[in-house]
Order: sequence, then C-alpha cells, then structure tokens
Amino acid sequence: MKIAVLGTGGGGRAHAAKLLELGHDVHVGTRDPEATLARTEPDMMGNPPYRQFLADHPGIHLHAFAEAAAAAELVINGIDGANALKALTAIADQLADKTLIDYAVPYLYGAQMEHPWPTPFGTMPKLDPCDTDSLAEQIQRALPDVKVVKSFVTQEQDTVVNPEAIAGGDHTMFVAGDDAEAKKTVTELLDSYGWTDVLDLGDLVAARGMEMYAHMHGAIGMALGMGNHFGVKIVRR
Ligand SMILES: NC(=O)c1ccc[n+]([C@@H]2O[C@H](COP(=O)([O-])OP(=O)(O)OC[C@H]3O[C@@H](n4cnc5c(N)ncnc54)[C@H](OP(=O)(O)O)[C@@H]3O)[C@@H](O)[C@H]2O)c1
Repeated sequence: MKIAVLGTGGGGRAHAAKLLELGHDVHVGTRDPEATLARTEPDMMGNPPYRQFLADHPGIHLHAFAEAAAAAELVINGIDGANALKALTAIADQLADKTLIDYAVPYLYGAQMEHPWPTPFGTMPKLDPCDTDSLAEQIQRALPDVKVVKSFVTQEQDTVVNPEAIAGGDHTMFVAGDDAEAKKTVTELLDSYGWTDVLDLGDLVAARGMEMYAHMHGAIGMALGMGNHFGVKIVRR
C-alpha cells in the first residue's frame, strides 16, 4: 500500500522503517525536504540526521508534507502535537477522503510548560486541548472529509512497531474513530505490526482518554526508570 508518514521524528522513523520492512511504498513528509536533508546534527531527542536514516533505509521517499500526503492512500500523522492541526489543515486537499491515523500528543512545550511535576526536569508539558476536547477531534472538525483514527499513541516508538518486545506481545493497543471501515484498515495495519489485542474504544471522542494517558505513561515510565519499556494490558473477566 502507498502510505505517507508525516513527520521525521523518532515515532515517524519507527513507522516508516517498519512499513518499508513490510513491503509498503513509504512517503515521508517534512516541512522542507532540502532543509531536512541539510541537517547534520542530531535532533532535540538525539535522533541522528534524517539523511542518515534515509541512507540506512533505501526506498523511503522524502517530500514536503503535501506531496507525501498526495502520494498515499493511507496517512499517518507524526507531526508534533502543538503544530499538527495547522500543518494538516494546510494540506486539506491532499488528505481529502483518506484515512488519517493520528498518534500525536497535544503537548505544549516552552514558555507554556510551567507545569510543576516531579520529573527529572521538574516540569511536564501541558496538554491542550484536554478533558473536553482532543487534538484528534480538532483535526476531524477541521477536515470533515478525512477519516481520522486515533491509535499508536499509548505506546512508545520502539515497541509500537514491535509489540512482541514486551511480554511476547501480550498487551493491548487501542483505536478510536467515527468511521468503521477506517478503523478496520488501521486494525489490519496493527495486525501486520504484530498486535494481537486491538481494542476498539468507539467514536473519536475516546481520543481524549488516549491523549490524556500521556501523563500516566510518563508517570509509569519514571516509576520504572528510564529505558524500561512497557505496555498496557486490558484484563477482561
Ligand atoms: N515518539 C514516540 O514514541 C511517541 C509516542 C506517542 C506519541 N507521540 C507523539 O507523537 C507526535 C510526534 O512525535 P515524534 O516523536 O514522532 O516526532 P516529533 O519530534 O514530536 O515531531 C517531529 C515532526 O514535527 C514537525 N514539526 C515541528 N514543528 C513544526 C511546525 N512548526 N510546523 C509543522 N511541522 C512541525 C517536524 O517537521 P520537520 O520534519 O520539518 O522537522 C517533524 O516532522 C508528538 O506529539 C509526540 O508527543 C510520540
């Protein structure tokens, strides 16, 4: 399948590499391909320059966001949460009628980050929107002819594409969205990643809980210690 991954961060790289391995035609989107290829320093998360990632993964195509979306049947949003709505709205024509898997967290960093929390940094970014709305719902309202499915967001980049790395894969992934066919497509993609327990949370309103889980995910990560990977398992009666 022709799949676009909008985003060159760690999550976007994980999905692009996995999709390439699975035999898909992978089109990655970035703001300015020339500028992205000209970078020689690791990004703020320590990921090596993108041109190195491309050299290590021949076959992945790098474009501007609009061209990547235009080239694909299925699109993954890995644009950072504070900027995703604006960037996706700008390419509404290229996204029209497609399924968009959104895994972004609407964290606000920087000056708005003054949110005391006992992290190694003393703060946590603020979630906005939160509680009565979600980024996924904002995207859906802005792009009514796009089928938005929230997924991936509860899992880290290394293990979302390799669920077997935790408890042999015995943990749960979630999907939420208003279009049943789109959720089926995403569930099939998750199956191909190795997920065996995909829980449909219903309409896109459930994205609120998935995005707000980011704080819980952070707290669990800190409790277990940096570098320890984990998953969520829903245990039924
Ligand atoms: N990584 C994970 O494990 C993980 C897990 C769950 C959820 N998330 C969430 O998913 C989102 C993406 O995470 P990520 O780690 O893959 O990547 P990221 O580093 O958060 O974001 C990278 C992407 O955001 C784009 N971007 C940054 N500022 C922008 C702006 N002003 N306008 C348009 N685009 C802009 C960058 O564009 P360029 O390519 O042009 O630099 C890049 O493609 C985040 O909200 C994150 O919190 C991440």
